[in-house]
Amino acid sequence: MSEVNETQASPELIEQVRNEMSQSGLSQNDAAKQIDIKNTTISQWLRGIYPGDNDKVNEKVACWLSACAERRGSIASMPAPPAWVETPTAKKISATFSYAQMAGVMGIVYGGAGVGKTVTSKHYAKSYPNVWHVELMADAGGKLECAREICEVMGLTATGNASQLRRDIVSHAKGSLGLLIIDEAQFLKPLSLEMMRGIWRQAGIGVVLVGNEVVYAQLTGGQRAASFAQLFSRISKKQRLNKPLKGDVFKLADAWNVQGKKERDLLWNIANKNGALRSLTEVLRLASMYAADEVLSGKFINAAWQELGGMQ
Ligand SMILES: Nc1ncnc2c1ncn2[C@@H]1O[C@H](COP(=O)(O)OP(=O)(O)OP(=O)(O)O)[C@@H](O)[C@H]1O
Ligand SMILES: [Mg+2]
Repeated sequence: MSEVNETQASPELIEQVRNEMSQSGLSQNDAAKQIDIKNTTISQWLRGIYPGDNDKVNEKVACWLSACAERRGSIASMPAPPAWVETPTAKKISATFSYAQMAGVMGIVYGGAGVGKTVTSKHYAKSYPNVWHVELMADAGGKLECAREICEVMGLTATGNASQLRRDIVSHAKGSLGLLIIDEAQFLKPLSLEMMRGIWRQAGIGVVLVGNEVVYAQLTGGQRAASFAQLFSRISKKQRLNKPLKGDVFKLADAWNVQGKKERDLLWNIANKNGALRSLTEVLRLASMYAADEVLSGKFINAAWQELGGMQ
């Protein structure tokens, strides 16, 4: 005889889960993923007809609900970072995009981790029509993966091999006066770099490769230099970024309303460490949470920097 499972779904928890889903605008599927149970399980549990171990589900759900409450509490007290700020570095990056787009040429923006290459690429792509920002992952540097990523950003159905996808991309982009921004371009494999050149030449759009120093080294150094000489000679605009500029830090300080000289010097000091404007923004977010309604003074900035491990 099979064992009867006598555990039951908790009605209070069911109600709380329904509230949480409607407050956060979560679908049942999303909630199931966050709770880490199957969609069918949550569906049956919510209706009180789950035939399995309800105690176990109740426990998982309770744990999720308390994590949701905690997250909501910390997000509420953590101020959002300012939207994109037109820093001097951001202006340089945007100028390269704009030139590449207008002249229909290839460009590279490289170097400087955390100086705003990605946020500026995203901002530019949002501000102009026919600008496609593709952020590559380390495992998407091959021709097919890369073409698929571009298709997705362009809203194209990606079916077929890399050559077919390249043709689809070219026919979509041709005549658009557009710009293709390939972010994290250091992940492009040699044949994918060649494909970029093909897309640029056939579609007549601007193409900008954005990434770290490796992007430049790949095109100029080592054994590959000879094979990339032709590609490199096609790159009209090369924008190297190093560390953040003082003007970048002060623009962000303005956005956070930090005006004191001592505080601004401290921020400049922080931005010069690893992480650049990324760490600076994290420190400022935490510092303003500490400051609450008080002025964002040096003591809060230092405390946040220490808390985030920046003093080491
Ligand atoms: N112009 C800006 N306006 C607002 N915030 C900025 C700006 N530039 C940088 N930041 C802050 O710095 C963080 C890092 O920026 P971003 O991710 O664009 O750096 P990156 O140059 O792409 O770095 P990586 O080389 O590591 O990819 C952003 O998430 C943002 O918080
Ligand atoms: Mg980036």
